[in-house]
Order: sequence, then C-alpha cells, then structure tokens
Amino acid sequence: MNELSARVPGMQGFDARAMLLEDAAAPTRTSVFEAFPEIIGRSPVMVDTLEAVLKIAKSNGAVLLLGESGTGKELIASAIHRLSQRAVNRYIAINCGAIPEDLLEAELFGYEKGAFTGADRKRLGYFGEAHRGTIFLDEIGDMPLRLQVKLLRVLQEKRYSPLGGNHPLEADVRIIAATNVDLVRAVQNGKFREDLFYRLNVLPVFMAPLRERGGDIMSLLSHFLVKASIDHGMDEPCQFSNDALKILHNYRWPGNVRELQNVVERAVVLSGGGMIGVSQLPREILDSHQLAQPSPAAEFAVLDSSSQTTSNMPSPLFETFDATSLMAITGSEGKVSLPHEGVDLQVLMEMIENTLIIQALERTGNNKNQAAKLLGLNRTTLVERLKKRKIGFVNGTMAEFKKQPT
Ligand SMILES: Nc1ncnc2c1ncn2[C@@H]1O[C@H](COP(=O)(O)OP(=O)(O)OP(=O)(O)O)[C@@H](O)[C@H]1O
Ligand SMILES: [Mg+2]
Repeated sequence: MNELSARVPGMQGFDARAMLLEDAAAPTRTSVFEAFPEIIGRSPVMVDTLEAVLKIAKSNGAVLLLGESGTGKELIASAIHRLSQRAVNRYIAINCGAIPEDLLEAELFGYEKGAFTGADRKRLGYFGEAHRGTIFLDEIGDMPLRLQVKLLRVLQEKRYSPLGGNHPLEADVRIIAATNVDLVRAVQNGKFREDLFYRLNVLPVFMAPLRERGGDIMSLLSHFLVKASIDHGMDEPCQFSNDALKILHNYRWPGNVRELQNVVERAVVLSGGGMIGVSQLPREILDSHQLAQPSPAAEFAVLDSSSQTTSNMPSPLFETFDATSLMAITGSEGKVSLPHEGVDLQVLMEMIENTLIIQALERTGNNKNQAAKLLGLNRTTLVERLKKRKIGFVNGTMAEFKKQPT
C-alpha cells in the first residue's frame, strides 16, 4: 500500500466525508446513500433514479436500463442484483453484441453432449448457472432476431430447453436488459421484436446523461482523481487547476462517466503528480471549450478561489467539493441561476454551510471559539451544528489526511 492509499484507503477519506455531509443535509435520503456506496453523484436527478432503483431491486420484475453509453447502466444492473432477494445466487452479465449468434445461444441455454459438432460434454448454460439469480443482457438491441424469439418464449413460459435436450428445465432467472440504442425505433425498423420489448420493459430505468446531472461532474472528478492517483502510485492526490476544472465542468461529456474516468486517468498520468493544468486535457475537450461562448469567468473566479486564497491549509479535495456546491448553480457566465433540472435547495445550502464551517475549523486549528467568530455564530450554535451534522469526525479525517508528511 502506498502512502496515499494508507491515508485515504480506497478513497474512503473523501467519499465518507462527502457522504456524511450529504447524509446530514438530507437525512430522509440516507437509505439511498447507504444502498449505493459505489455510485458517485447525488444530484437531484440521480437521487430520484437511485430511489426508484432501490424499490425496483426489491421486486422481481424484468428491468430495462436505458441511457447513453457510459451513464452507469452496468453499475446499476449489478447493484439491483446485490440489493435483491436473489443476491445469494449468481449474477451473470453477458454482452449480447460481442458474442456470435450460435455461441450466444449455446452459452445462454446450455447443451447436451453431442448436440452439435464440438459439443463433447454437457454444458449447463447461463440460465442454469444463474438459477434463482439474475442475468444481465447488455446491449440487448444487438441480440439477433432468432434469439429474441427464443428469449421471449423463455420469459413467457418460464422454461427453456438446452440445445439437443428433450426435457425443458425451469427458468427462474430475473432478466435485467440494457441498451444505449432507441429500442422503440428498433421495433419500428423491424430490428427488435415488439412483444419482447414489452416483456423486458416492465420496470424501465432511464440513466440521465452526465451533462444533466448538475454537480455530479465535480463529485466524479474528485472521486476519480483520488482513485487514479492511488492506482498510479502517487504519494499525494493530483489537483486540477481552477482553469482546468472550469473547462471540465462546462464540457458536455458525450461519453458520460466512462469518458470522464478516462480523461482523469490520462491527465493524472500525463501530469506525473501535482497540479493538472489545461494543457493536460484532451484536444477534443479543449476544442469544444474554444467553440463555446467565451466565458467571462471573473465573477465565478471570485467565488471559486476564495477558499484557496484565504485558507491557511488549502485542501485540494475540499476545493473541488466546495466548487460542486457552487458550480451546480453557476453557469459559464458565473451568475447564480436555477439549472434546468432544478436544485435541491436544502441540500445545496447545507453543503455550502458545511463547507464554510469546516474551513473555519481548519483555519483556526479546530478552535471552536475562533471558528464561530469567523462564521458570525455564537459558540453554542456552532457546536450544535457540528453535532447534528457529524462534522467533528469528518474534520478529524481530513486533518489527519493533511497532516501526513509528504
Ligand atoms: N455514478 C457512477 N459512479 C462511479 N462510477 C461510475 C458511475 N457511473 C458509471 N461509472 C463507471 O463508469 C464506467 C462506465 O459505466 P457503465 O459500464 O456502467 O456504463 P454503461 O451505461 O453500461 O455504458 P455502455 O452503454 O457503453 O455499456 C464504469 O467504469 C463504471 O464503473
Ligand atoms: Mg454497459
């Protein structure tokens, strides 16, 4: 384990802190935060999706995950299985587009010995292996029509026959399917069976593109920054310069979370540690930034850099967390405005308040009297808020992280 991972084991330091802060800010949503620890992003649209997914997981119906590439459909599919009553049994993920038709059929339904040339032994198949579990059919839009018919029959009859077999077997498997293509159009074009579409579309879940998820971009940047720094053996987490951060925040992310993850990893490697500047961002991001309306960032920069210039103990991770709150409501013109998808005002205001409280405690070396003065609060009010929001523990984690020698 390197120095950084010792201090921020598996990024727990940052994540736990963010979770705690947000938990405190929105206690009614705690169950969602606990249920999906691996899923980063607490924008209102994401929380709504996760709340729906939590309910869906407890049911037994077929799920259809829709959304652009890289939005996290596969992540959600495995979370649904993990949170379902089927979790004790197997979860098998199959990419329908990556396997040739005949092989996919044999893999799904299994075969008897001698069923075809080369079948020198019996094979159970995924439906047998995932009995009482879950099968995730990724890229379902690519499933050949002949197999669509077979799958439909299995879903209707709850039985299937292995290739070359005479006795149908029970199919007790939950199907989660996913696609990034427009299945309705595929049905209209005769590429996807309408009856199968309705069978699969019992519980649809739409994963919103990253550009519509408000502050999630910043949380994901922070998360993957720490992860990539650890993965590449850095002793300190890299940081984005404010300019780089603004460009990344305003980018449209057509490849969604996958693209963001790759961009961060590449930038971490290219920077070799330390500060990641604009020059370490990929060409397509810089090009799209230049094409966009030039943004007079001055007003934003005042907000964005205030913590940096006034804090005695600058915290790279906290700077981005802070920016998450602010960037969610400030667009490229730097004016506070209500985003299209709306905001959770209570969560947002409490995040900003928590941010300032922690910074006041940092700056005063955890002196509650002085911190309260900086915040214009009396000491009792500050202490009450710390207790309510569990900030003492959070701050302890961060102070410990920052006091480590480099
Ligand atoms: N909210 C999230 N938090 C953390 N990691 C995420 C999140 N969403 C996606 N990822 C990560 O981004 C990558 C892409 O996600 P995933 O494979 O689930 O996308 P997908 O929607 O299935 O994409 P495709 O349609 O291209 O198959 C994965 O490495 C996944 O772990
Ligand atoms: Mg996928």
